[in-house]
Amino acid sequence: MKQPVRIAVTGAAGNISYSLLFKIAAGEMLGADQPVILQLVEIPQAMDKLRGVAMELEDCSFPLVHGISLHDNPFDGFKGVHYAMLVGARPRSKGMERADLLEANAAIFSEQGKALNEVANRDVKALVIGNPANTNCLILSRNAPDLDPSQFCAMTRLDHNRSQGILGNKLGVNPSDIDGVVVWGNHSPTMYPDLHNATVLGGESVIDQIDEDWYKSEFTPRIQKRGAEIIEWRGLSSAASAAQAGLDHMRDWALGSDGKIVSMGIISDGSYGVAKGIYYSFPCICEFGSYQVVKGLEVNEYGQAMMKKTEQELLEEKAAVDHLLPAETAESREN
Ligand code: NAI
Repeated sequence: MKQPVRIAVTGAAGNISYSLLFKIAAGEMLGADQPVILQLVEIPQAMDKLRGVAMELEDCSFPLVHGISLHDNPFDGFKGVHYAMLVGARPRSKGMERADLLEANAAIFSEQGKALNEVANRDVKALVIGNPANTNCLILSRNAPDLDPSQFCAMTRLDHNRSQGILGNKLGVNPSDIDGVVVWGNHSPTMYPDLHNATVLGGESVIDQIDEDWYKSEFTPRIQKRGAEIIEWRGLSSAASAAQAGLDHMRDWALGSDGKIVSMGIISDGSYGVAKGIYYSFPCICEFGSYQVVKGLEVNEYGQAMMKKTEQELLEEKAAVDHLLPAETAESREN
């Protein structure tokens, strides 16, 4: 039996975690031979609810769960963690401006970055799910100067999975028969779901099988606004699908994506002309516990304009929180 790994989950008493924790505990993230110790982090006001969640985890008698601990601050909760799933974030309340939302979350992710920097395992992989995920991830990483920016990701896998699901339905194939979908940019309505390099069953090009008007006027806005569509029908935001995406992202990052392209919000190294130093969703292939950006994909004029728009939004978000970011080191500028 392998040694247990430590996994921190923040927002552990919330909706997404209510699905995510049970999947991790069942071995769906790191495999059925990998024991886990769950370090659950919440705000002090949610600790009672968190106790209830921990009781249910215990009642499942998961053989892989070798420990559960509950924490009301990240400096305790992140001690020695190999994986951190950062789900908890401040939601937008009535009348709150975008800048206020970014600032409220900057406070949370600055503290969590410092905590990871100080107490996490040096090889920690941290995935930001809480919105605005890309900019929260930037704040997190900049507050953890001893860790490499490539140890942090923002989740755009839900947008990737949504694209494959809706496309599979349209083409009458299984979503897993589709490869090469790419979601570029920000996890927001400016994201660009790109199907130009996608294929079905390793052969036929997707773009040749769909109508351009459907792609641009129906599919693209639907993916960009899918979160709002779910809220409209369900009355609640996406939870199980977000949990599944978080699990897919971390599993592929840790264990490999089997040669398949996955979309990950990662630190830009300037690939595809994207400004360096923002967390932007790129096409990646994961192997041996790390990711590589897939280079050389063709992006047409329409795609370039879409990519610029979402990059611009991320640069604006960065500018809005710049005064809260610790000074950039030469090393982080290199990235
Ligand atoms: P929720 O409101 O049900 O749960 C959030 C939990 O986080 C609450 O229990 C809250 O007490 C906790 N929390 C807040 N601040 C915290 C802090 N500083 N430390 C630890 N815990 C903290 O929300 P839900 O539905 O679970 O969603 C969580 C986040 O995920 C939201 O920001 C949501 O917008 C985002 N999200 C991101 C998606 C993505 O694709 N990247 C998809 C769906 C949701």
